[in-house]
Amino acid sequence: MNGNCAVVACDYIQTAHRRVRDMEPSGREPLEAPSLDDYSQMLGEQAVSCTLIGENWRNRVYRVQFAGGRVAIAKQLLVGTDEMLQRQYAQYADLARLAIPNLKVPQALAILPSKRTYLMEVAAGETIEALIGRGSQEELVGACTLAGTILAQMELSQTKGSCPLPVEALARDFATAPWRLSARQRQTLTSALEKLAPSQVNVGQIYYDFKPANTLVHQDVLYLIDPPDILREGIHLWDFGLFRSSMRRHLWRLMVRFPLRRRRRAAIRRAMEAFQQAYVATLDRDIPRSFGAIVWLLELQRTAVLMTMQQGKLAITGDRDGTRQSLGHPLANQVSLPLLDVEKQWLFRQLARELKRIPIKTLAPGEVVLWLSTAAASFWA
Ligand SMILES: Nc1ncnc2c1ncn2[C@@H]1O[C@H](COP(=O)(O)OP(=O)(O)OP(=O)(O)O)[C@@H](O)[C@H]1O
Ligand SMILES: [Mg+2]
Repeated sequence: MNGNCAVVACDYIQTAHRRVRDMEPSGREPLEAPSLDDYSQMLGEQAVSCTLIGENWRNRVYRVQFAGGRVAIAKQLLVGTDEMLQRQYAQYADLARLAIPNLKVPQALAILPSKRTYLMEVAAGETIEALIGRGSQEELVGACTLAGTILAQMELSQTKGSCPLPVEALARDFATAPWRLSARQRQTLTSALEKLAPSQVNVGQIYYDFKPANTLVHQDVLYLIDPPDILREGIHLWDFGLFRSSMRRHLWRLMVRFPLRRRRRAAIRRAMEAFQQAYVATLDRDIPRSFGAIVWLLELQRTAVLMTMQQGKLAITGDRDGTRQSLGHPLANQVSLPLLDVEKQWLFRQLARELKRIPIKTLAPGEVVLWLSTAAASFWA
């Protein structure tokens, strides 16, 4: 793919707008939950109980117990098409085929398209998100080291090539972001796209949602859950930025809710560093000077995706008086948007700062510096 980034997807904000439109049931009957009979038929074994363990506007997740003692997880997609269901289902086997040491993917067991549901193995361990709240520093750092190593290995095995940052596609996507920018922020964005245009990035299939809530860790094994229902060829740094921004959001939440828990905050920062170090070390190549700015830019795009989703949810819960529980608590929805706006402003500042480190003259292809030693510190400031 060298030299041609035409097929690289950068339309994540636009996709979020489409997803928001799909949130509305659009006259369709609400999807019924699968029954015990459904589960029994799916596995050819009698299901004896089923407990809802998670629900949001996209999915319902159940723990299903079978008569022979077997337990499975059922996931029902509330929005999306049958094609998306089949694609997500197929992803479990596809990811397992990557054969990355210490990475496991739950085995997909059976599918029931009429209820847009599939059954899968139970993944062992706790999510990194849970460890952020209650794991020891050692556990959290170990888990994030594993996550950084595995993400880099996934990318290495899925790299199709490298090409200049697809700034035009990024600009088109940013143009649909549901935010107001100050003149300075607009200038930062324009200058970022101009300055970063010659930077080479690795591209290929991405996971898209590699984050603490979708990674469970158990005895040096990382279970990856919640695979994408859309396959995307994208910029590989996307998932790195997504994991990092998700960790940082947890860190900020902790600062606001428990300002005295300094040791916990230090543990999260240490874990973020460990994630980054493991990722960079596993990629085992010099990091381009523009790495830092590109990741800030992708994080901004992610924030715009979250804002789009959040505005969509608010529009629906506002209309319906907050009656759709799966869309989240109405108050939490109201609070999220201002916080995302604060994050946006913060990210713009980081991006502007990082851009100053890049010379005005375009980077020569292949120009590299050991970014880790110079720029890493600023990420955690
Ligand atoms: N195979 C599994 N084994 C164990 N737990 C699972 C499994 N699949 C899902 N879960 C649990 O259900 C939660 C939600 O599942 P999943 O991530 O697939 O859905 P989601 O709608 O994206 O939720 P979230 O937004 O929290 O990530 C996970 O965080 C995890 O705790
Ligand atoms: Mg998930």
